[in-house]
Amino acid sequence: MSNVEDAKRAAAKVAVTNHYPKDARWVGIGSGTTIVYVVEAIKALGVDTSLTHYVPTGYQSRQLILNAGLMAVEFDAIPPGTVLDVAFDGADEVDDDLNCIKGGGACLFQEKIVAMQSKEFICVADSRKLQSNLLSNWKYVPIEVAPIAAYRVLRKLEELGSVKPAIRTSLTPKEGPLKTDQGFFIIDAPFPPLLNTADIAAGKTGSGAWQVDALARHIKQIAGVLEVGLFSGMTGPQARSAGGVGGQRPV
Ligand code: 5RP
Repeated sequence: MSNVEDAKRAAAKVAVTNHYPKDARWVGIGSGTTIVYVVEAIKALGVDTSLTHYVPTGYQSRQLILNAGLMAVEFDAIPPGTVLDVAFDGADEVDDDLNCIKGGGACLFQEKIVAMQSKEFICVADSRKLQSNLLSNWKYVPIEVAPIAAYRVLRKLEELGSVKPAIRTSLTPKEGPLKTDQGFFIIDAPFPPLLNTADIAAGKTGSGAWQVDALARHIKQIAGVLEVGLFSGMTGPQARSAGGVGGQRPV
């Protein structure tokens, strides 16, 4: 087992131990490689999961839930008005304000709606993912777009200052653009590192760099964009722990 895998497993264990409600009935399960260890940690808790509904954030997530012998319920099958007890997910990068970049695995739209429908969003990130400013190490913002609008969105992103935004290709390039679970494309849009709250307090706003929330809002307003892989204001410092960062969400 590599150090990286050990770190993911350790982060997942801390996050689940501290944030999994023992009587949970509705639990969101994110996507990626870290979330595999979250499911492992849930199983290791030894609690009765027979009445718990696990809501996936995409195909991989659904398979993970089913392979663990847990009950998968798609987002559109959740009874109206139901708020999930908690949602666990990974991240590509997390800043000092606990904002996240997500979408490295192309599941950001379902990840966001599941997180938004949850009382608490727990973002599980090992120390490699922590940076003072988003886009320090992870260089681009993943954005899910309607295929027919993809080239228009590329031009609009350039107007916002993105240098060489690109449509993500499949692992097999001859298959063309990668398609999400919605049949949409992902655009990866590079921007310079984003400002955090401390930068704004220190008056660094004249640098031309974007503040996280402002960039997310501007991208979301482009017609053709389904969702942006910037998760801002979805976690709170009150619930920070060594392995998972999360917070109570207004739903
Ligand atoms: C998928 C995601 C993942 O949560 C993110 O890419 C982190 O993945 P990993 O745990 O494999 O590092 O947002 O769209």
